Amino acid sequence: MQDGRDDGQDGQEGQQGEPGGSVRKQRDQWTSRIGVILAVAGSAVGLGNFLRFPGQAAENGGGAFMVPYFIAFLLLGIPICWAEWTMGRMGGRMGFHSSPAIYGAVAGRPRWRFMGALGVLIPIIIYMYYVVIESWCLGYALAYLTGSIDLGNDPSTYGERSAAWFGDFVGIGGNGLRDESGISTSVYLWLFVFVVNFAFIYRGISKGIETFCKYAVPLMALCAVIVLVRVLTLGTPNPELPDQNVLNGLGFMWNPKSSAVDGSWVGSLADPGVWLAATGQIFFSLSVGFGIIINYASYLHRDKDVVLSGLTASSTNEFFEVCLGGLITIPAAFIFLGAAGATGGTFGLGFNALPVVFLYMPGGEFFGFLWFFMLFLAAITSSLSMLQPGIAFLEEGLDIDRHSSVMLLGLLTGAGSLFVVYFSEGLAALDTMDFWVGTAGIFVLATLQVILYGWVLGVDKGIEEAERGAQLHLPKVFRFVIKYVSPAYLLTIFVLWSRENLPGYIDSLSKGGVPLVTVGIIFGVLAIFLILVHVASGRWDRETQSSQPT
Ligand code: ALA
Repeated sequence: MQDGRDDGQDGQEGQQGEPGGSVRKQRDQWTSRIGVILAVAGSAVGLGNFLRFPGQAAENGGGAFMVPYFIAFLLLGIPICWAEWTMGRMGGRMGFHSSPAIYGAVAGRPRWRFMGALGVLIPIIIYMYYVVIESWCLGYALAYLTGSIDLGNDPSTYGERSAAWFGDFVGIGGNGLRDESGISTSVYLWLFVFVVNFAFIYRGISKGIETFCKYAVPLMALCAVIVLVRVLTLGTPNPELPDQNVLNGLGFMWNPKSSAVDGSWVGSLADPGVWLAATGQIFFSLSVGFGIIINYASYLHRDKDVVLSGLTASSTNEFFEVCLGGLITIPAAFIFLGAAGATGGTFGLGFNALPVVFLYMPGGEFFGFLWFFMLFLAAITSSLSMLQPGIAFLEEGLDIDRHSSVMLLGLLTGAGSLFVVYFSEGLAALDTMDFWVGTAGIFVLATLQVILYGWVLGVDKGIEEAERGAQLHLPKVFRFVIKYVSPAYLLTIFVLWSRENLPGYIDSLSKGGVPLVTVGIIFGVLAIFLILVHVASGRWDRETQSSQPT
Protein backbone atom coordinates (compact mmCIF):
# COMPACT_ATOMS: atom_id res chain seq x y z
CA MET A 1 0.00 0.00 0.00
CA GLN A 2 1.36 3.35 -0.98
CA ASP A 3 1.46 6.25 1.38
CA GLY A 4 -1.29 8.45 0.04
CA ARG A 5 0.11 11.69 1.41
CA ASP A 6 2.21 12.84 -1.52
CA ASP A 7 1.17 16.06 -3.11
CA GLY A 8 -0.85 15.91 -6.27
CA GLN A 9 0.13 18.14 -9.13
CA ASP A 10 -3.21 18.74 -10.63
CA GLY A 11 -6.61 19.57 -9.32
CA GLN A 12 -8.39 17.19 -11.61
CA GLU A 13 -6.38 14.01 -11.32
CA GLY A 14 -4.62 12.04 -8.64
CA GLN A 15 -1.00 11.18 -9.01
CA GLN A 16 1.41 8.33 -8.82
CA GLY A 17 2.11 7.51 -5.23
CA GLU A 18 -1.48 7.96 -4.16
CA PRO A 19 -3.77 4.95 -3.91
CA GLY A 20 -5.24 4.50 -7.34
CA GLY A 21 -4.19 8.06 -7.96
CA SER A 22 -2.93 8.03 -11.49
CA VAL A 23 -6.11 6.58 -12.95
CA ARG A 24 -8.63 8.60 -10.96
CA LYS A 25 -10.41 11.68 -12.05
CA GLN A 26 -12.59 13.91 -9.90
CA ARG A 27 -16.10 13.10 -11.07
CA ASP A 28 -17.73 16.45 -10.41
CA GLN A 29 -16.72 19.77 -8.83
CA TRP A 30 -18.30 22.81 -7.24
CA THR A 31 -18.47 25.60 -9.79
CA SER A 32 -18.04 28.55 -7.42
CA ARG A 33 -16.78 29.38 -3.96
CA ILE A 34 -20.10 30.83 -2.89
CA GLY A 35 -21.73 27.64 -4.21
CA VAL A 36 -19.71 25.35 -1.94
CA ILE A 37 -20.13 27.66 1.06
CA LEU A 38 -23.89 27.73 0.58
CA ALA A 39 -23.97 23.95 0.10
CA VAL A 40 -22.03 23.32 3.33
CA ALA A 41 -24.07 25.96 5.16
CA GLY A 42 -27.23 24.39 3.70
CA SER A 43 -26.13 21.03 5.05
CA ALA A 44 -25.50 22.55 8.47
CA VAL A 45 -28.59 24.74 8.75
CA GLY A 46 -31.51 22.43 9.31
CA LEU A 47 -34.09 21.29 11.79
CA GLY A 48 -31.33 21.29 14.40
CA ASN A 49 -31.06 25.08 14.20
CA PHE A 50 -34.72 25.97 14.43
CA LEU A 51 -36.25 23.19 16.51
CA ARG A 52 -33.51 21.34 18.39
CA PHE A 53 -31.40 24.35 19.46
CA PRO A 54 -34.13 26.43 21.16
CA GLY A 55 -35.46 23.36 23.00
CA GLN A 56 -31.98 22.35 24.19
CA ALA A 57 -31.01 25.87 25.25
CA ALA A 58 -34.24 26.52 27.14
CA GLU A 59 -34.05 23.15 28.94
CA ASN A 60 -30.38 23.46 29.85
CA GLY A 61 -29.95 26.76 31.57
CA GLY A 62 -31.10 29.35 28.97
CA GLY A 63 -28.30 31.90 28.62
CA ALA A 64 -26.04 29.71 30.78
CA PHE A 65 -26.24 27.07 28.03
CA MET A 66 -24.34 29.43 25.75
CA VAL A 67 -21.15 29.08 27.83
CA PRO A 68 -20.58 25.36 27.11
CA TYR A 69 -22.13 25.89 23.68
CA PHE A 70 -19.55 28.46 22.56
CA ILE A 71 -16.71 26.57 24.22
CA ALA A 72 -17.72 23.47 22.24
CA PHE A 73 -17.98 25.61 19.11
CA LEU A 74 -14.46 26.98 19.54
CA LEU A 75 -12.69 23.85 20.79
CA LEU A 76 -14.52 21.21 18.80
CA GLY A 77 -16.85 22.59 16.13
CA ILE A 78 -14.53 24.93 14.27
CA PRO A 79 -11.31 22.87 14.62
CA ILE A 80 -13.00 19.64 13.47
CA CYS A 81 -14.66 21.48 10.60
CA TRP A 82 -11.24 22.68 9.43
CA ALA A 83 -9.84 19.16 9.78
CA GLU A 84 -12.75 17.73 7.75
CA TRP A 85 -12.48 20.38 5.04
CA THR A 86 -8.73 19.78 4.78
CA MET A 87 -8.86 15.99 4.65
CA GLY A 88 -11.77 16.11 2.21
CA ARG A 89 -9.95 18.39 -0.21
CA MET A 90 -6.83 16.25 0.15
CA GLY A 91 -8.82 13.11 -0.68
CA GLY A 92 -10.42 14.83 -3.65
CA ARG A 93 -7.01 15.73 -5.00
CA MET A 94 -6.20 12.03 -4.99
CA GLY A 95 -9.42 11.38 -6.85
CA PHE A 96 -11.43 10.08 -3.86
CA HIS A 97 -14.72 11.35 -2.50
CA SER A 98 -15.93 8.84 0.06
CA SER A 99 -14.86 8.58 3.70
CA PRO A 100 -13.48 5.02 3.43
CA ALA A 101 -11.21 5.92 0.51
CA ILE A 102 -10.24 9.30 1.94
CA TYR A 103 -9.44 7.91 5.40
CA GLY A 104 -7.24 5.20 3.85
CA ALA A 105 -5.47 7.71 1.63
CA VAL A 106 -4.97 10.35 4.33
CA ALA A 107 -3.71 7.77 6.84
CA GLY A 108 -1.66 5.90 4.26
CA ARG A 109 -3.00 2.75 5.92
CA PRO A 110 -5.76 0.59 4.39
CA ARG A 111 -7.25 -0.38 7.73
CA TRP A 112 -8.47 3.20 8.17
CA ARG A 113 -10.80 2.56 5.25
CA PHE A 114 -12.90 0.39 7.57
CA MET A 115 -13.22 3.25 10.08
CA GLY A 116 -14.38 5.37 7.15
CA ALA A 117 -17.37 3.04 6.78
CA LEU A 118 -18.91 5.04 9.63
CA GLY A 119 -18.75 8.15 7.45
CA VAL A 120 -21.09 6.41 5.01
CA LEU A 121 -23.33 4.70 7.56
CA ILE A 122 -24.03 7.76 9.73
CA PRO A 123 -25.47 10.11 7.10
CA ILE A 124 -27.48 7.28 5.54
CA ILE A 125 -29.14 6.22 8.78
CA ILE A 126 -29.79 9.83 9.80
CA TYR A 127 -31.34 10.40 6.38
CA MET A 128 -33.79 7.53 7.01
CA TYR A 129 -35.51 9.42 9.83
CA TYR A 130 -34.61 12.99 8.92
CA VAL A 131 -36.53 12.74 5.63
CA VAL A 132 -39.62 11.64 7.58
CA ILE A 133 -39.49 14.79 9.75
CA GLU A 134 -38.83 16.81 6.60
CA SER A 135 -42.09 15.50 5.14
CA TRP A 136 -43.95 16.52 8.33
CA CYS A 137 -42.68 20.09 7.77
CA LEU A 138 -44.01 20.08 4.22
CA GLY A 139 -47.27 18.60 5.50
CA TYR A 140 -47.68 21.40 8.05
CA ALA A 141 -46.79 24.05 5.45
CA LEU A 142 -49.49 22.69 3.13
CA ALA A 143 -51.95 22.43 6.00
CA TYR A 144 -51.47 26.17 6.69
CA LEU A 145 -51.84 26.94 3.00
CA THR A 146 -55.14 25.06 2.81
CA GLY A 147 -56.32 26.04 6.30
CA SER A 148 -56.76 22.43 7.35
CA ILE A 149 -55.33 22.60 10.87
CA ASP A 150 -58.47 22.90 12.95
CA LEU A 151 -57.89 23.34 16.68
CA GLY A 152 -61.51 24.21 17.46
CA ASN A 153 -62.82 27.29 19.27
CA ASP A 154 -62.05 26.53 22.86
CA PRO A 155 -58.69 28.00 23.94
CA SER A 156 -58.54 25.60 26.88
CA THR A 157 -58.28 22.64 24.50
CA TYR A 158 -56.03 24.15 21.82
CA GLY A 159 -52.90 22.45 23.21
CA GLU A 160 -54.61 19.08 23.46
CA ARG A 161 -56.04 19.31 19.96
CA SER A 162 -52.74 20.41 18.52
CA ALA A 163 -50.99 17.39 20.07
CA ALA A 164 -53.78 15.14 18.77
CA TRP A 165 -53.48 16.63 15.27
CA PHE A 166 -49.75 15.92 15.28
CA GLY A 167 -50.27 12.41 16.69
CA ASP A 168 -52.80 11.52 14.00
CA PHE A 169 -50.66 13.05 11.27
CA VAL A 170 -47.52 11.08 12.11
CA GLY A 171 -49.28 7.98 13.46
CA ILE A 172 -47.88 8.29 16.95
CA GLY A 173 -50.50 5.96 18.39
CA GLY A 174 -50.07 3.12 15.90
CA ASN A 175 -48.70 2.29 12.49
CA GLY A 176 -47.84 5.36 10.46
CA LEU A 177 -48.89 3.88 7.13
CA ARG A 178 -52.61 3.90 7.66
CA ASP A 179 -55.32 6.00 9.22
CA GLU A 180 -59.05 5.38 9.31
CA SER A 181 -59.46 6.52 5.69
CA GLY A 182 -56.79 4.15 4.31
CA ILE A 183 -53.22 5.08 3.42
CA SER A 184 -52.30 8.06 5.52
CA THR A 185 -51.71 11.43 3.78
CA SER A 186 -48.36 11.72 5.51
CA VAL A 187 -47.19 8.61 3.61
CA TYR A 188 -47.79 10.31 0.24
CA LEU A 189 -45.93 13.37 1.47
CA TRP A 190 -43.04 11.22 2.68
CA LEU A 191 -42.88 9.49 -0.72
CA PHE A 192 -42.94 12.83 -2.53
CA VAL A 193 -40.18 14.34 -0.38
CA PHE A 194 -38.12 11.18 -0.72
CA VAL A 195 -38.35 11.30 -4.52
CA VAL A 196 -37.56 15.04 -4.61
CA ASN A 197 -34.33 14.40 -2.66
CA PHE A 198 -33.27 11.69 -5.08
CA ALA A 199 -34.19 13.80 -8.11
CA PHE A 200 -31.80 16.55 -6.95
CA ILE A 201 -29.06 14.17 -5.89
CA TYR A 202 -29.24 12.41 -9.23
CA ARG A 203 -28.37 15.68 -10.98
CA GLY A 204 -25.03 15.72 -9.17
CA ILE A 205 -22.87 18.13 -7.21
CA SER A 206 -22.94 21.24 -9.34
CA LYS A 207 -26.25 20.88 -11.20
CA GLY A 208 -28.18 19.34 -8.31
CA ILE A 209 -26.90 20.27 -4.85
CA GLU A 210 -25.12 23.54 -5.65
CA THR A 211 -27.89 24.95 -7.81
CA PHE A 212 -30.59 24.04 -5.29
CA CYS A 213 -28.68 25.46 -2.31
CA LYS A 214 -27.91 28.72 -4.14
CA TYR A 215 -31.64 29.47 -4.21
CA ALA A 216 -32.84 27.61 -1.13
CA VAL A 217 -30.42 29.06 1.48
CA PRO A 218 -31.17 32.76 0.72
CA LEU A 219 -34.87 31.95 0.44
CA MET A 220 -34.96 30.29 3.85
CA ALA A 221 -33.03 33.22 5.34
CA LEU A 222 -35.67 35.55 3.92
CA CYS A 223 -38.56 33.46 5.28
CA ALA A 224 -36.91 33.22 8.72
CA VAL A 225 -36.26 36.99 8.87
CA ILE A 226 -39.90 37.74 8.00
CA VAL A 227 -41.12 35.44 10.77
CA LEU A 228 -38.56 36.95 13.18
CA VAL A 229 -39.76 40.49 12.45
CA ARG A 230 -43.33 39.33 13.11
CA VAL A 231 -42.34 37.83 16.47
CA LEU A 232 -40.26 40.84 17.56
CA THR A 233 -43.11 43.25 16.75
CA LEU A 234 -45.77 41.37 18.69
CA GLY A 235 -45.50 43.71 21.68
CA THR A 236 -47.96 42.63 24.38
CA PRO A 237 -50.69 40.93 22.35
CA ASN A 238 -52.92 40.20 25.34
CA PRO A 239 -53.26 43.30 27.62
CA GLU A 240 -54.74 41.04 30.31
CA LEU A 241 -51.41 39.22 30.49
CA PRO A 242 -48.92 42.13 30.52
CA ASP A 243 -45.98 39.89 31.48
CA GLN A 244 -46.28 37.91 28.28
CA ASN A 245 -44.51 40.40 26.07
CA VAL A 246 -41.62 40.33 23.63
CA LEU A 247 -38.96 41.40 26.12
CA ASN A 248 -39.96 38.78 28.64
CA GLY A 249 -40.12 36.20 25.86
CA LEU A 250 -36.52 36.98 24.92
CA GLY A 251 -35.60 36.98 28.59
CA PHE A 252 -37.22 33.57 29.08
CA MET A 253 -35.02 32.18 26.35
CA TRP A 254 -31.80 34.03 27.10
CA ASN A 255 -31.60 34.94 30.79
CA PRO A 256 -29.25 32.47 32.48
CA LYS A 257 -31.43 30.22 34.64
CA SER A 258 -30.58 29.55 38.25
CA SER A 259 -29.51 26.03 38.98
CA ALA A 260 -31.03 23.76 41.59
CA VAL A 261 -27.49 23.16 42.92
CA ASP A 262 -26.61 26.58 44.37
CA GLY A 263 -29.30 28.94 43.15
CA SER A 264 -26.94 30.78 40.80
CA TRP A 265 -26.70 30.36 37.03
CA VAL A 266 -23.04 29.39 37.36
CA GLY A 267 -24.22 26.31 39.26
CA SER A 268 -25.87 24.97 36.10
CA LEU A 269 -22.38 24.69 34.61
CA ALA A 270 -21.60 22.00 37.20
CA ASP A 271 -24.20 19.77 35.55
CA PRO A 272 -22.50 17.44 33.02
CA GLY A 273 -25.86 17.08 31.25
CA VAL A 274 -25.65 20.75 30.19
CA TRP A 275 -22.19 20.20 28.66
CA LEU A 276 -23.36 17.06 26.92
CA ALA A 277 -26.38 18.80 25.47
CA ALA A 278 -24.30 21.76 24.27
CA THR A 279 -21.65 19.58 22.64
CA GLY A 280 -24.22 17.31 21.00
CA GLN A 281 -25.99 20.39 19.66
CA ILE A 282 -22.79 21.78 18.12
CA PHE A 283 -22.09 18.50 16.36
CA PHE A 284 -25.60 17.99 15.09
CA SER A 285 -25.97 21.57 14.02
CA LEU A 286 -22.67 21.97 12.18
CA SER A 287 -23.01 18.47 10.60
CA VAL A 288 -19.63 17.71 12.16
CA GLY A 289 -18.83 14.00 12.54
CA PHE A 290 -21.47 13.11 9.92
CA GLY A 291 -19.02 12.25 7.12
CA ILE A 292 -20.62 15.05 5.10
CA ILE A 293 -18.10 17.92 5.16
CA ILE A 294 -15.25 15.59 4.20
CA ASN A 295 -17.28 14.43 1.22
CA TYR A 296 -18.37 17.93 0.12
CA ALA A 297 -14.80 19.28 0.45
CA SER A 298 -13.51 16.51 -1.80
CA TYR A 299 -15.21 18.22 -4.73
CA LEU A 300 -13.07 21.35 -4.28
CA HIS A 301 -10.22 22.18 -6.59
CA ARG A 302 -6.90 21.33 -4.90
CA ASP A 303 -5.88 24.94 -4.23
CA LYS A 304 -9.23 26.36 -3.22
CA ASP A 305 -9.28 27.92 0.21
CA VAL A 306 -10.63 25.77 3.02
CA VAL A 307 -9.85 27.88 6.10
CA LEU A 308 -11.97 30.93 5.32
CA SER A 309 -14.63 28.86 3.56
CA GLY A 310 -14.96 26.53 6.57
CA LEU A 311 -15.18 29.47 8.93
CA THR A 312 -17.75 31.25 6.76
CA ALA A 313 -19.97 28.17 6.47
CA SER A 314 -19.80 27.53 10.24
CA SER A 315 -20.50 31.19 11.08
CA THR A 316 -23.46 31.20 8.71
CA ASN A 317 -24.80 28.21 10.60
CA GLU A 318 -24.38 30.03 13.92
CA PHE A 319 -26.19 33.08 12.58
CA PHE A 320 -29.16 30.90 11.60
CA GLU A 321 -29.05 29.04 14.89
CA VAL A 322 -28.52 31.73 17.49
CA CYS A 323 -29.86 34.87 15.79
CA LEU A 324 -32.83 33.32 14.01
CA GLY A 325 -33.60 29.98 15.68
CA GLY A 326 -32.88 31.38 19.14
CA LEU A 327 -35.12 34.42 18.74
CA ILE A 328 -38.20 32.89 17.19
CA THR A 329 -39.66 29.70 18.67
CA ILE A 330 -39.30 30.08 22.44
CA PRO A 331 -40.02 33.84 22.61
CA ALA A 332 -43.10 33.37 20.39
CA ALA A 333 -44.32 30.46 22.50
CA PHE A 334 -43.76 32.44 25.72
CA ILE A 335 -45.61 35.51 24.42
CA PHE A 336 -48.78 33.53 23.72
CA LEU A 337 -48.58 30.51 25.99
CA GLY A 338 -46.48 31.66 28.93
CA ALA A 339 -43.63 29.76 30.56
CA ALA A 340 -45.53 26.46 30.67
CA GLY A 341 -46.17 26.50 26.92
CA ALA A 342 -42.63 27.48 25.99
CA THR A 343 -41.03 24.26 27.13
CA GLY A 344 -41.09 20.82 25.61
CA GLY A 345 -38.72 18.84 23.49
CA THR A 346 -37.98 19.39 19.83
CA PHE A 347 -41.24 17.96 18.55
CA GLY A 348 -43.39 19.20 21.41
CA LEU A 349 -42.28 22.75 20.77
CA GLY A 350 -42.18 22.58 16.99
CA PHE A 351 -45.30 20.63 16.18
CA ASN A 352 -47.55 20.99 19.24
CA ALA A 353 -46.90 24.43 20.74
CA LEU A 354 -46.20 26.44 17.59
CA PRO A 355 -49.49 25.62 15.83
CA VAL A 356 -51.28 27.08 18.88
CA VAL A 357 -48.99 30.13 18.71
CA PHE A 358 -49.87 30.67 15.04
CA LEU A 359 -53.55 30.41 15.92
CA TYR A 360 -53.21 33.37 18.30
CA MET A 361 -50.78 35.35 16.16
CA PRO A 362 -52.22 38.04 13.88
CA GLY A 363 -51.67 36.73 10.33
CA GLY A 364 -50.90 33.33 11.84
CA GLU A 365 -51.99 31.26 8.79
CA PHE A 366 -49.49 33.11 6.58
CA PHE A 367 -46.66 33.05 9.14
CA GLY A 368 -47.37 29.40 9.94
CA PHE A 369 -47.01 28.54 6.29
CA LEU A 370 -43.82 30.59 5.95
CA TRP A 371 -42.30 28.99 9.05
CA PHE A 372 -42.96 25.38 8.08
CA PHE A 373 -42.00 26.01 4.46
CA MET A 374 -38.72 27.49 5.72
CA LEU A 375 -38.19 24.40 7.90
CA PHE A 376 -38.83 22.21 4.87
CA LEU A 377 -36.21 24.10 2.83
CA ALA A 378 -33.72 23.94 5.71
CA ALA A 379 -34.32 20.21 6.03
CA ILE A 380 -33.97 19.41 2.35
CA THR A 381 -30.61 21.18 1.98
CA SER A 382 -29.44 19.02 4.91
CA SER A 383 -30.94 15.73 3.75
CA LEU A 384 -29.38 16.12 0.29
CA SER A 385 -26.00 16.30 1.97
CA MET A 386 -26.72 13.02 3.80
CA LEU A 387 -27.15 11.15 0.52
CA GLN A 388 -24.04 12.31 -1.32
CA PRO A 389 -21.47 10.44 0.88
CA GLY A 390 -23.25 7.13 0.17
CA ILE A 391 -23.52 7.85 -3.56
CA ALA A 392 -19.82 8.72 -3.71
CA PHE A 393 -18.88 5.51 -1.93
CA LEU A 394 -21.00 3.26 -4.14
CA GLU A 395 -19.65 4.98 -7.28
CA GLU A 396 -15.99 4.72 -6.44
CA GLY A 397 -16.11 1.59 -4.30
CA LEU A 398 -18.10 -0.57 -6.69
CA ASP A 399 -17.13 1.34 -9.84
CA ILE A 400 -20.74 1.86 -10.84
CA ASP A 401 -22.28 4.91 -12.49
CA ARG A 402 -24.37 7.56 -10.75
CA HIS A 403 -27.61 6.08 -12.05
CA SER A 404 -26.91 2.69 -10.43
CA SER A 405 -25.58 4.15 -7.19
CA VAL A 406 -28.63 6.40 -6.86
CA MET A 407 -30.88 3.36 -7.46
CA LEU A 408 -29.04 1.25 -4.88
CA LEU A 409 -29.02 3.97 -2.26
CA GLY A 410 -32.67 4.70 -3.01
CA LEU A 411 -33.57 1.06 -2.28
CA LEU A 412 -31.57 0.96 0.95
CA THR A 413 -32.74 4.28 2.36
CA GLY A 414 -36.28 3.67 1.08
CA ALA A 415 -36.51 0.42 3.05
CA GLY A 416 -35.02 2.01 6.19
CA SER A 417 -37.19 5.09 6.00
CA LEU A 418 -40.31 3.00 5.42
CA PHE A 419 -39.42 1.14 8.59
CA VAL A 420 -39.37 4.48 10.45
CA VAL A 421 -42.74 5.47 8.96
CA TYR A 422 -44.32 2.12 9.76
CA PHE A 423 -43.02 1.87 13.33
CA SER A 424 -44.27 5.33 14.22
CA GLU A 425 -45.86 4.26 17.50
CA GLY A 426 -44.23 6.42 20.16
CA LEU A 427 -41.71 7.37 17.41
CA ALA A 428 -39.75 4.34 18.62
CA ALA A 429 -37.70 3.63 15.48
CA LEU A 430 -36.94 7.32 14.91
CA ASP A 431 -35.79 7.89 18.50
CA THR A 432 -33.60 4.79 18.50
CA MET A 433 -31.81 5.82 15.31
CA ASP A 434 -31.38 9.34 16.62
CA PHE A 435 -29.87 8.08 19.85
CA TRP A 436 -27.43 5.48 18.50
CA VAL A 437 -26.45 7.18 15.27
CA GLY A 438 -27.52 10.85 15.48
CA THR A 439 -25.89 11.23 18.90
CA ALA A 440 -23.48 8.40 19.82
CA GLY A 441 -22.34 7.72 16.25
CA ILE A 442 -21.33 11.28 15.51
CA PHE A 443 -19.25 11.51 18.72
CA VAL A 444 -17.37 8.38 17.66
CA LEU A 445 -16.80 9.53 14.09
CA ALA A 446 -15.69 13.00 15.19
CA THR A 447 -13.18 11.38 17.58
CA LEU A 448 -11.81 9.18 14.81
CA GLN A 449 -11.42 12.20 12.57
CA VAL A 450 -9.55 14.19 15.16
CA ILE A 451 -7.14 11.30 15.72
CA LEU A 452 -6.70 10.81 11.99
CA TYR A 453 -5.93 14.48 11.39
CA GLY A 454 -3.93 15.36 14.49
CA TRP A 455 -2.04 12.12 15.08
CA VAL A 456 -2.05 9.85 12.03
CA LEU A 457 -1.65 12.40 9.25
CA GLY A 458 0.17 14.58 11.77
CA VAL A 459 -0.75 18.06 12.83
CA ASP A 460 2.15 19.74 10.99
CA LYS A 461 1.28 18.10 7.71
CA GLY A 462 -2.40 18.80 8.41
CA ILE A 463 -1.78 22.52 8.94
CA GLU A 464 0.43 22.79 5.86
CA GLU A 465 -2.31 21.08 3.87
CA ALA A 466 -5.04 23.34 5.29
CA GLU A 467 -3.10 26.52 4.56
CA ARG A 468 -2.45 25.65 0.93
CA GLY A 469 -4.34 28.33 -0.99
CA ALA A 470 -5.87 29.65 2.24
CA GLN A 471 -6.88 33.29 2.46
CA LEU A 472 -6.61 33.22 6.21
CA HIS A 473 -3.96 31.63 8.43
CA LEU A 474 -5.09 29.15 11.01
CA PRO A 475 -4.73 30.61 14.51
CA LYS A 476 -1.52 29.41 16.21
CA VAL A 477 -3.49 27.79 19.00
CA PHE A 478 -5.14 25.46 16.48
CA ARG A 479 -2.13 23.10 16.58
CA PHE A 480 -2.48 22.54 20.32
CA VAL A 481 -6.28 22.45 20.27
CA ILE A 482 -6.70 19.86 17.53
CA LYS A 483 -3.91 17.64 18.81
CA TYR A 484 -4.63 17.63 22.52
CA VAL A 485 -7.67 19.61 23.57
CA SER A 486 -10.24 18.31 21.06
CA PRO A 487 -9.47 14.59 21.58
CA ALA A 488 -9.38 14.96 25.38
CA TYR A 489 -12.59 16.99 25.35
CA LEU A 490 -14.30 14.44 23.10
CA LEU A 491 -13.24 11.48 25.19
CA THR A 492 -14.42 13.18 28.39
CA ILE A 493 -17.76 14.04 26.86
CA PHE A 494 -18.13 10.53 25.48
CA VAL A 495 -17.42 8.90 28.85
CA LEU A 496 -19.86 11.27 30.60
CA TRP A 497 -22.48 10.68 27.95
CA SER A 498 -22.09 6.89 28.15
CA ARG A 499 -22.35 6.93 31.94
CA GLU A 500 -25.44 9.06 31.85
CA ASN A 501 -27.31 7.40 28.99
CA LEU A 502 -26.11 3.92 28.18
CA PRO A 503 -27.41 1.96 31.20
CA GLY A 504 -30.98 3.18 30.64
CA TYR A 505 -30.84 2.55 26.93
CA ILE A 506 -29.33 -0.89 27.21
CA ASP A 507 -32.00 -1.73 29.72
CA SER A 508 -34.70 -0.62 27.29
CA LEU A 509 -33.10 -2.77 24.56
CA SER A 510 -33.26 -5.82 26.78
CA LYS A 511 -37.05 -5.56 26.58
CA GLY A 512 -36.84 -6.26 22.83
CA GLY A 513 -39.40 -4.78 20.43
CA VAL A 514 -38.85 -1.99 17.92
CA PRO A 515 -35.74 -0.46 19.56
CA LEU A 516 -33.93 -3.79 19.45
CA VAL A 517 -34.91 -4.44 15.82
CA THR A 518 -33.80 -0.91 14.93
CA VAL A 519 -30.38 -1.45 16.51
CA GLY A 520 -30.20 -4.76 14.58
CA ILE A 521 -30.89 -2.87 11.35
CA ILE A 522 -28.19 -0.30 12.12
CA PHE A 523 -25.61 -3.03 12.71
CA GLY A 524 -26.86 -4.92 9.65
CA VAL A 525 -26.29 -1.86 7.45
CA LEU A 526 -22.88 -1.35 9.06
CA ALA A 527 -21.98 -4.96 8.25
CA ILE A 528 -23.02 -4.43 4.61
CA PHE A 529 -20.81 -1.36 4.36
CA LEU A 530 -17.85 -3.11 5.98
CA ILE A 531 -18.13 -5.89 3.39
CA LEU A 532 -18.38 -3.32 0.60
CA VAL A 533 -15.33 -1.49 1.98
CA HIS A 534 -13.46 -4.78 1.87
CA VAL A 535 -14.46 -5.29 -1.78
CA ALA A 536 -13.64 -1.67 -2.65
CA SER A 537 -10.31 -1.90 -0.88
CA GLY A 538 -9.26 -4.75 -3.13
CA ARG A 539 -10.21 -2.70 -6.18
CA TRP A 540 -8.34 0.42 -5.02
CA ASP A 541 -5.22 -1.62 -4.27
CA ARG A 542 -5.33 -3.30 -7.68
CA GLU A 543 -5.75 0.08 -9.34
CA THR A 544 -2.74 1.39 -7.45
CA GLN A 545 -0.61 -1.58 -8.44
CA SER A 546 -1.61 -1.41 -12.08
CA SER A 547 -0.73 2.29 -12.16
CA GLN A 548 2.79 1.74 -10.79
CA PRO A 549 5.59 2.11 -13.34
CA THR A 550 7.01 -1.36 -14.14
N1 ALA B 1 -27.02 19.97 10.59
C1 ALA B 1 -28.32 19.52 10.27
C2 ALA B 1 -29.34 20.10 11.18
O1 ALA B 1 -29.01 20.92 12.00
C3 ALA B 1 -28.37 18.02 10.27
O2 ALA B 1 -30.48 19.75 11.08
